[in-house]
Amino acid sequence: MEDTFILIKPDGIQRSMVGRIIQRLEEKGLQLRAVKMEQLDESMVKKLYPHLKNKEFFPRLVNFMVATPVLAMVWRGEGAVLATRKLLGSTDPQKAETGTIRGDMALAVGANLVHCSDAPENAAREIELFFSPGELCNYEKSTNIWLREEPWQ
Ligand code: RTP
Ligand code: MG
Repeated sequence: MEDTFILIKPDGIQRSMVGRIIQRLEEKGLQLRAVKMEQLDESMVKKLYPHLKNKEFFPRLVNFMVATPVLAMVWRGEGAVLATRKLLGSTDPQKAETGTIRGDMALAVGANLVHCSDAPENAAREIELFFSPGELCNYEKSTNIWLREEPWQ
């Protein structure tokens, strides 16, 4: 089982997409471990996106990400990092496939609704940034066996 970090961005909050985004993650079979609403500041955006600090668009990204509170979450499942990358679609919603969250629900790279971790090591780093270990719920979902390769085993 793998954990990944998912964050609904301010456009998702403002456009009332929280329920629909969570529904897509649940439908995929992922298990919610933690959720928290939080107002980010510039230093937190820098910590979330250290690879983008020197990009010309970074000030715009900061303004966007601090515009309203965001919803930070931890989701668990087999191959959760890659599965959620595919579920979200390409960074630019104009290029994201129909059927993906960004492809179906957004129009601009500057307002692409959701963040997800791009690798397991970044997922661990991002989860630690937003949650203390005690905030991550450990529980077994009874449906988990029906999401495995061989559910009857
Ligand atoms: P995310 O981290 O939010 O899941 O997005 P990502 O991995 O698909 O893309 P990444 O390169 O990590 O970029 C993070 C966020 O920065 C904004 N961005 N704007 N050319 C641009 O104006 C541009 N490029 C990236 C997007 O909000 C992107 O999701
Ligand atoms: Mg990224």
